[in-house]
Amino acid sequence: MFYEKFGLVNTAEMFAHAMAHRYAIGAFNFYNMETLVAISTAARETNSPIILAVSESALEYMGDDMLMSMISGLKLSTNERVALHLDHGHSFESCARAIDIGFSSVMIDASALPFQENIALSARVAEYAHARDVTVEAEIGIIGGHEDKNTHAANQLYTNPNDAIEFVARTNVDSLAIAIGTSHGAYKRRSDSEQLRFDILREIAYRLPNFPLVLHGASSVPKLLVDTINENGGNLNTARGIPTDQLRQAILMGICKINVDTDSRLAFTAGVRLEMSENPNEFNPRKYLGLGTSAVYENTINEITNIMDSTDRLR
Ligand code: G3H
Ligand code: 13P
Ligand code: ZN
Repeated sequence: MFYEKFGLVNTAEMFAHAMAHRYAIGAFNFYNMETLVAISTAARETNSPIILAVSESALEYMGDDMLMSMISGLKLSTNERVALHLDHGHSFESCARAIDIGFSSVMIDASALPFQENIALSARVAEYAHARDVTVEAEIGIIGGHEDKNTHAANQLYTNPNDAIEFVARTNVDSLAIAIGTSHGAYKRRSDSEQLRFDILREIAYRLPNFPLVLHGASSVPKLLVDTINENGGNLNTARGIPTDQLRQAILMGICKINVDTDSRLAFTAGVRLEMSENPNEFNPRKYLGLGTSAVYENTINEITNIMDSTDRLR
């Protein structure tokens, strides 16, 4: 497998272990050296398996060669369990390109297509990926949230359990992202009392036993980060995430991969804003980027420990 030369692994074993022991693998998005170092160091220091997630737009931003050089620079050891994952790949070509440059896991997100077309495209990606020992995630239902390339509507469509069973049987994918009320971005819910649809998760997990289920849009939007941003010139007043107790509940019920991007963005922004307002005369980027990096590192340690429960899970 091409990805082995970078010390990467696919997600098969890490998901099997997480499901057997009821914890989750954190999939943290990154887009530059700072966020990569912050997230990978947090995983290393907590002895946690981790998924380094790269969206199509983040790949565009970093460029193939720069990204893979940075992954090489991690110098992963055989004791570590790190997957490099394409997040929300939207076409066969996008997934194949990621696999060909060294990704060990890809997501084909054809959830905007009609069900049968989603099945056909996801199955095609699975066939290409499995021939190269790369694992594949797909999605059915619509995860709401900010309208960008990764979400298709302000409204969401919960995953139909019957569709989930048929989809897995016909595509041969390795994991499935389901829509149970999470959404991408920092504005996920109108009130703290809103509950995820645990009834849907329960039925899917019951009917697909030991099959890895994935939660996108799962940032908890920590209040301290939002407050720090707002107190230092930002304006994120109605930001609200998924309460951590609901995330833990979802893990106990069968979710074994939790996707986090927004929380890292908030942490980075909070660190940079704080440093800039406390030291207005400072203009060395290493200073404020360093504070952003530390904030992402601390947030990742916190989520690995208190949400994923994936510390000391390396075998
Ligand atoms: O779910 C998507 C992630 O938040 C990535 O977003 O395309 O802006 O990198 P992005
Ligand atoms: P958040 O916006 O909640 O961090 O979700 C990230 C995600 O799902 C990446 O695929
Ligand atoms: Zn997502």
